[in-house]
Amino acid sequence: MKTGEKDILLSGMQPTGPLHIGNYVGALRNWVRLQDQFAGRLFVFVADYHAMSENYDPKERQEQILTLVAEYLAAGLDPKKVTIYVQSHIPEVTELFWIFNTVTPVAFLERMTQFKDKSGRQKENINMGLFSYPVLQAADILLPKASLVPVGLDQVQHVELTRDIARFFNNRFGETFPEPKPLLTEIPKVMGLLDPEKKMSKSVPGSYISLMDEPEEIQKKLRRAVTDMGPVTDRSKKSAGVQNLFTLLHEFGTPEDDAIMERAYQDGSLKYSELKDLLALRIADHLATFRARRAKLLANPAALERMLATNAKKVRKMAQQTVKEVRQKVGLST
Ligand code: ADP
Ligand code: TRP
Repeated sequence: MKTGEKDILLSGMQPTGPLHIGNYVGALRNWVRLQDQFAGRLFVFVADYHAMSENYDPKERQEQILTLVAEYLAAGLDPKKVTIYVQSHIPEVTELFWIFNTVTPVAFLERMTQFKDKSGRQKENINMGLFSYPVLQAADILLPKASLVPVGLDQVQHVELTRDIARFFNNRFGETFPEPKPLLTEIPKVMGLLDPEKKMSKSVPGSYISLMDEPEEIQKKLRRAVTDMGPVTDRSKKSAGVQNLFTLLHEFGTPEDDAIMERAYQDGSLKYSELKDLLALRIADHLATFRARRAKLLANPAALERMLATNAKKVRKMAQQTVKEVRQKVGLST
């Protein structure tokens, strides 16, 4: 994609437990790759307001927030290039959220697949936060006037809604916001291990490999991964499960790994157990560095908190500018 000199990039994740390799390959690793090209213009945050829309234990939340920050850094985000912050440190976002609510048609929110999924999963707690979640996401993105949003495929619908909200606002109150676009990785959708027709997700047990899984656990999960349902007749097109394993090998292994396994697949000599064990080894090696860095960072929470406090000040300044402009445009101030 062609990106301009002035593009601002913004993305974030919810602090709802350890990340999995889908989050890593689909989003986090992409941010690390983008941080050089967009040094100083990449904003990554912890979506703690969003995470309140699902059932959780408030006693665990602070630790989950700090852990996610440590995971961002452990994955390779450089605080000199990327501004990492916590969403609730910027209360201005909730004001923009309210204003955006007034230009968002209810019918647009009713179409959101994440809302449909999540409200199906927590029928006893279908709260307004779950419903208006994408409007808050639009406020996150448009507060610093970001124009590119690096996320996985499942978030594209939310970024498209953000474009609609920006357009509706601009039409009604005058040109104010860019219409942001999603920025996908090469692998925008890692599939689940047990059901490769569905995305890998932390809400589907057994579907994912956590970044905190020990090597034996990774191997165990991969050995259970679904491959072919019957004999392979056409080698030009892999089944979803097999394709997913190859995709992961491409991401975590070496070019030689790719070539050797592909050749064996094509001549029919590949044992899927070998492919799975090699992949387990490569993922475990990769994650060993991540885990060591994460532990080191979490041993010094005060340093993380200092960084977050500094960044909150910087982001708030920008946020206040946007909110001031918006208040004038909508007639809340002169
Ligand atoms: P989960 O479904 O596990 O709860 P989230 O919705 O918290 O994941 O996603 C956080 C980020 O990771 C988003 O940018 C999302 O697009 C990305 N992501 C999540 N799952 C996958 C996946 N299976 N493949 C690629 N990207 C993913
Ligand atoms: N909805 C995103 C997710 O589930 C998290 C998120 C909230 C986000 N606000 C955002 C992502 C703004 C990108 C930009 O992963």
